[in-house]
Amino acid sequence: MLAELWAWLTTPCSPAARRLGYLHETIALSARHRRCRTAWQTHLQHSRNALLAATAACKQHRGALILGSGDLLDVPLADLARRFQTVTLVDVLHPPSVKRQARRHANVRWLEHDVTECLADVLALPAGSHADTIAALGLKQPGRFLPEADIDFVASVNLLSQLPLLPCQWLLKRFPQYPESLFDQLALALMQRHIEYLRRFDAPVCLIADAEQISRDRAGNVLAHTDFIPALFAGMNPAAEWWWDIAPDGEAGPGCNSRHRVWALEWRNARPDG
Ligand SMILES: C[S@@+](CC[C@H](N)C(=O)[O-])C[C@H]1O[C@@H](n2cnc3c(N)ncnc32)[C@H](O)[C@@H]1O
Repeated sequence: MLAELWAWLTTPCSPAARRLGYLHETIALSARHRRCRTAWQTHLQHSRNALLAATAACKQHRGALILGSGDLLDVPLADLARRFQTVTLVDVLHPPSVKRQARRHANVRWLEHDVTECLADVLALPAGSHADTIAALGLKQPGRFLPEADIDFVASVNLLSQLPLLPCQWLLKRFPQYPESLFDQLALALMQRHIEYLRRFDAPVCLIADAEQISRDRAGNVLAHTDFIPALFAGMNPAAEWWWDIAPDGEAGPGCNSRHRVWALEWRNARPDG
């Protein structure tokens, strides 16, 4: 608890990321990883393997762009730094431990960046904004990095389902007059825009993301189930898939557990692979 408070006070991060709760989430995720280290191990290894396997499609090895680098738990940084001339880690914020790891490699840099490119607009929405203005946040096409010709590999690592969480929570609290369905639609739109963004890169792309999320109670009854496949991945085939015991028994409440089915998708030159 003290370690988490210290991290909250000392981790550099933009006021927007702090306000929207990204710093809090990052610290909570690190703490959860410490508690669930054993249960997460297979998922993290699968993610690292899938990411490296996808680099086999690269014809050149100039820049690698890693979106949602977070704590680098699922990012094989040393391997990437050996394979590519430069590796760029992209996240809303980068914990000090990540910056220390990055500094060990002369060709690794980190960038604070919101890959939805809409968080500033979320924060700037005036009270009383119309529902259409809120829905329009999900129409914005992110464009950063697309014009950079020397990017030869892009990975989005366990990021997709996280993209809408904090902005939609923020909006839900700020605009309680609107139905939850407005924010559900916005959440879906933000994830769809991210997939479209990835498909616009002229380089091999690896998307590692939740395809399905299930929470169960002690008796095995399903408490919550989200299937992302029809809305996000219809007609797509993963290069690999596995289950992530994200909240083993007890972590999500007494006797409850949550599992995510994770897909690793690969695209080459913005066309589906396979
Ligand atoms: C589940 S974590 C991914 C785990 C991470 N790859 C690791 O190994 O620790 C999701 C990450 O996405 C980042 N993130 C969430 N929304 C983002 C956004 N709009 N732009 C950039 N990064 C974002 C979070 O800060 C967090 O680090």
